[in-house]
Amino acid sequence: MLFKTLYVTVDLYQHGIALDTPLNQCMGADSIMEVVATGANAKFKVGDVVQGFGGWQKYVIHNGGEVLWQTGTFPMVFPAYRKLDPAVHPAKFPYSLALGALGGPGMAAWGTISKVFNLEAGQTLLISGASGAVGEMVGQLAKLHGVKVIGIVGSDEKIAHIKSLGFDAGINYKQANDYEKMSQALQEVAPEGIDRYFDNIGGYITDAVFPQLNVYSVVAICWQLATQLETEPNTGPRLFPWIMFPRATIRGIFALEWFTQENWLALIEEVGGYIQAGKVKYHEVHYEGFDQIPQAYSTLFKGTEKTRGKVIVKI
Ligand SMILES: NC(=O)c1ccc[n+]([C@@H]2O[C@H](COP(=O)([O-])OP(=O)(O)OC[C@H]3O[C@@H](n4cnc5c(N)ncnc54)[C@H](OP(=O)(O)O)[C@@H]3O)[C@@H](O)[C@H]2O)c1
Repeated sequence: MLFKTLYVTVDLYQHGIALDTPLNQCMGADSIMEVVATGANAKFKVGDVVQGFGGWQKYVIHNGGEVLWQTGTFPMVFPAYRKLDPAVHPAKFPYSLALGALGGPGMAAWGTISKVFNLEAGQTLLISGASGAVGEMVGQLAKLHGVKVIGIVGSDEKIAHIKSLGFDAGINYKQANDYEKMSQALQEVAPEGIDRYFDNIGGYITDAVFPQLNVYSVVAICWQLATQLETEPNTGPRLFPWIMFPRATIRGIFALEWFTQENWLALIEEVGGYIQAGKVKYHEVHYEGFDQIPQAYSTLFKGTEKTRGKVIVKI
């Protein structure tokens, strides 16, 4: 099939993909594509709109099947393309949402809340990287469970933003910029301790969180941006006594494990339903035109206000 790319994602995970992509090969990326021509055994028909790992390219030739990614440091399988139901996209939600709140970021958030965290009212949840596409969704879904939610973000404006989404409190990591200051800030906003920690960032922030974990707490590792960007020395696991005493569980989150038809339908019904009911808000920043991809991508690393929510390029 020949696919025309409609939207591509720019995402922090592509920093790792870029390092592992051989020269002259297309940059991998989640995308929304329309089928424009088909061969005899094609899985989709002309006019179908699909979501898949089509990459940063205007046109894609592909059979729509799984692709084994072997050049990376961690071998993995990119899932088969999936047809978007026109009764959902675009009838109820824009296509772009299938790259954000109803796509991989939404699945990472919803999957963690519904399958890992087992939240109970009265617990305290902390999120690092809280103003991003994943973090703001985790916080809003958790609030529906009656949980106290705290977000760590990079500016006071972003604290105001996450509070407007229902978060109870925020910490500005650019002010709490070392272990001691972060520890103190955490004690101020969560003297009761942390029951659930959704970690996107790692580094000194996570070091400061571990000693404040409550008994039977759960830590979800969605990513470790500080390690990835090497803004902090890659010192390896540390402070593990703070995991033993509270009998905490640390669990890696990889949204691909939840990419099943059953889960996509559940995500659309549950999170899509909350969005339609106005109970959950999503934010997207759109760039337009293939040549805007580098500009859009670079905003992820600059900590600008525009990094709020999901950044998407319309091709
Ligand atoms: N495990 C999985 O299955 C899975 C699925 C989806 C995404 N992810 C990963 O999870 C992370 C969050 O995804 P996302 O879509 O929410 O990303 P995003 O929308 O780009 O948000 C990430 C947030 O990180 C903050 N940030 C940027 N640079 C930082 C730094 N040097 N130190 C601390 N914070 C920094 C930014 O906010 P501030 O301006 O407040 O700093 C930004 O809002 C990404 O690394 C993504 O690759 C993992």
